[in-house]
Amino acid sequence: MAGRLSTLFATSSLLPVIAVAFAVGIFVIDTVTPLEAAVAVLYVVVIMLASNFLPRPGVLLTSAICLVLTALSFLLTHELDDGTGLVKCLLSIAAIGITTFLTLKNQSANMTLREQARLLDLTHDAIFVRDTNDVITYWNRGAEKLYGVTREEAVGRVAHVLLQTRFPESSDKILADLLHTGRWEGELVHTRRDGTRAVVASRWALKRDERGRPQEILETGNDVTAEKHAQETLAEAHAQLAHVTRAATLGELTASIGHEVIQPLAGIVTNGEAGLRWLKRDVPQLEEVRGAIERMIRDGKRADQVIRRLRALAKKAPMQAMPLDLNEVINEAITLVQREVLNYRVTLQLELAPDLPPALGDRVELQQVIINLMVNGMQAMETVVDRPRSLVVCSGLHDAQEILISVQDSGSGIAPDDMKRLFKAFFTTKPNGMGMGLSICRSIIEAHGGRVWASSNAGPGTSFQFALPLNAGIRHEP
Ligand SMILES: Nc1ncnc2c1ncn2[C@@H]1O[C@H](COP(=O)(O)OP(=O)(O)OP(=O)(O)O)[C@@H](O)[C@H]1O
Ligand SMILES: [Mg+2]
Repeated sequence: MAGRLSTLFATSSLLPVIAVAFAVGIFVIDTVTPLEAAVAVLYVVVIMLASNFLPRPGVLLTSAICLVLTALSFLLTHELDDGTGLVKCLLSIAAIGITTFLTLKNQSANMTLREQARLLDLTHDAIFVRDTNDVITYWNRGAEKLYGVTREEAVGRVAHVLLQTRFPESSDKILADLLHTGRWEGELVHTRRDGTRAVVASRWALKRDERGRPQEILETGNDVTAEKHAQETLAEAHAQLAHVTRAATLGELTASIGHEVIQPLAGIVTNGEAGLRWLKRDVPQLEEVRGAIERMIRDGKRADQVIRRLRALAKKAPMQAMPLDLNEVINEAITLVQREVLNYRVTLQLELAPDLPPALGDRVELQQVIINLMVNGMQAMETVVDRPRSLVVCSGLHDAQEILISVQDSGSGIAPDDMKRLFKAFFTTKPNGMGMGLSICRSIIEAHGGRVWASSNAGPGTSFQFALPLNAGIRHEP
């Protein structure tokens, strides 16, 4: 409000008229009225008024005119003078001189400030300042552009009401952080004038007064709406791709899967028939029947589990993070590649660390990673005839900070040049390969806040490893 008044005052076209009238009034009173006071001292008001609408040379000229008028009044009246007139004249001249000096200094400081404020208008960032009541006191051009709200409309309004701000955490927590460290940064959702949402990467800095009390908050914001949207679209595309390749892997694993389901079903039939035979005996052998029924239940459950896992892999469910026992995830993945292990005549060895702490992750996606790595390892050993085809899957805790899973084969190995391209989409050396397996593995593991890499073994073959942080957060929700 005060700012608006002073702007109005400063730009008013009446000011020059008032200043001239004031100067004429002072001259007349000083010359014709036999007042005892040093009336000419009041010329300082004329100079201060002039500094509001005149540049530096104009203020100097006004000051010179005031000095001339003071001297003129003295010359016109000095005949009546008893000597005090000269003192009053000199006093007024000194006052005019000092006021001119201070006014010019103030004007140049104001100019510098205005220049700096203009610089803030050059940046594309939205910058605004608000006081401790959240009332906006400064609003730059970037903010006008981002929010569609002009400076005049914004100054004086409560920032978070005007922008309908949605905070990523409680405002009490944000305030506590700001008071404690003097800074805060995070992602805010604001509403523009046209009602659309803007996701803004916001940085706050707290300014304190000389006594250390919070005074103002400078808020700088970058519009990241488009990036955010692109990230979401990318995450969505990754999820789609993961699903498609999962479906493709399932297609390749049909033989294994068929075997995993047929075997328990055959077991059920065999046990059912045996049970019936035990019942048909002259003296039914109930203990034997009980054993057969228990085996039927066990086989039924096994088939049920395989089918459930398959359905989970085939379904396109959104990513779901939950605490997982990765040893369990490895064992589940292995049931789906059992047949491949037999077909490729591979010796599968498990070295799973007991009491592995849980990691936060999506069960189906991590199964997909392990299946991809195991299938790659087995395919890499297809041509090996002169040594055992061994696939070793290990789990362990690394540095008490992350869980490390490795899949090690004794296959063909990887050429140094190819090492750099392994995880790139569509890189394949297989005639029927898609080149998507490792690229999907990487996007899944990185979305879990982890990393995946390959290294050549000391002996033949390659090791693929991935590390997942304990209690890792998932970065996106496709
Ligand atoms: N264990 C491994 N040993 C040797 N080379 C490997 C191994 N794993 C991957 N590669 C190399 O990396 C390439 C890319 O693997 P990736 O799993 O991404 O695709 P792919 O297996 O060729 O096809 P698909 O998309 O069907 O999985 C493979 O073609 C192969 O050359
Ligand atoms: Mg592959």
